[in-house]
Amino acid sequence: MPQWMETQEFLDILQGLRQQARQDIAGAMDSAALEAVRVRYLGKKSPLSQLLRTVGTLPPDQRPRLGQEVNAVRQELEEELNRTARRLADAELAHRLQAEAVDVTLPGRRRRRGTRHPLTRVLEEIQDIFVSLGYWVAEGPEVELDYYNFEALNLPKGHPAREMHDSLYITEEILLRTHTSPVQVRTMKAMAPEVPVRIIAPGRVYRRDALDATHSPVFHQVEGLEVDRGTTFADLKGTLAFFAKRMFGQERQVRFRPSYFPFTEPSAEMDVSCLFCNGAGCRVCKGSGWIEILGCGSVHPFVLQESGYDPEEVSGFAFGMGLERIAMLKYGIDDIRLFLQDDLNFLRQFARG
Ligand code: PHE
Repeated sequence: MPQWMETQEFLDILQGLRQQARQDIAGAMDSAALEAVRVRYLGKKSPLSQLLRTVGTLPPDQRPRLGQEVNAVRQELEEELNRTARRLADAELAHRLQAEAVDVTLPGRRRRRGTRHPLTRVLEEIQDIFVSLGYWVAEGPEVELDYYNFEALNLPKGHPAREMHDSLYITEEILLRTHTSPVQVRTMKAMAPEVPVRIIAPGRVYRRDALDATHSPVFHQVEGLEVDRGTTFADLKGTLAFFAKRMFGQERQVRFRPSYFPFTEPSAEMDVSCLFCNGAGCRVCKGSGWIEILGCGSVHPFVLQESGYDPEEVSGFAFGMGLERIAMLKYGIDDIRLFLQDDLNFLRQFARG
């Protein structure tokens, strides 16, 4: 029965195409591959379209049924293609979302915050105390004239007290300042005859010293100066005692010992009761119970006059302290070189709490 064979053959081819198509649909790994499958099986030149065109060669009574068969397969494949296309699109979207995801819960990269250098911190404390007393902060050059560093401060050439300063000279008349006292003269010259003068002058100073645990060729001082009508040594004592207690604690005692500086008269050293043993005597204060903090005195009339003030009209007091020394005492630091070494383990201890 050739007609039956033909019909059966037609159905076999259709079945083969259907199965092959379903297999290829299932095997498509992404939307693009699936589109290719769609074109291959449902396009105008696809075997299915060709098969449909052969329906006309079949026995007429079979044609409607076989035509329906082809269309049923066609519809089935279309549905399967659409289902798969949706599945693939969903998977692709999910994959893209995952790949491009920003995890907002991921902790940020922590930035290490810097800390103030202990010397800066101590200087700021000193400045705050004196600013609260009406002082201004003044500055002067580190490369200084012999005149301001010595001459105007009552230290003429050949004065034995110059020997106390191991100076670093640049020329015969220019040197790296050995102390901040020249800022006294510069400030007074700029302000004279105006009163009151109340300044502190922090800055770097230089001495020809070798670096060891207690000496450094470069260190810092804070100078202080008050000039006014009627300023007395009592003002000096009151001001510096106030400072010492603010700086080192209200329980600190202070004492003034006679001393000598060519630019103050009388001169003194101020001690505070030892921070470590509270005056009982220990290794730090070498058993004395006192620690020297600064040098001070009434401004010498020569310096007032040289700077443009009339010593008969005004008087003043001055003081100078080593910043490193204050910081070492305040924080119990035993080696001045630590200030220069940029060791983060050292520096981080001074973060403000
Ligand atoms: N300039 C002095 C020194 O370097 C300190 C000082 C300053 C003393 C002001 C008295 C008055 O040692």
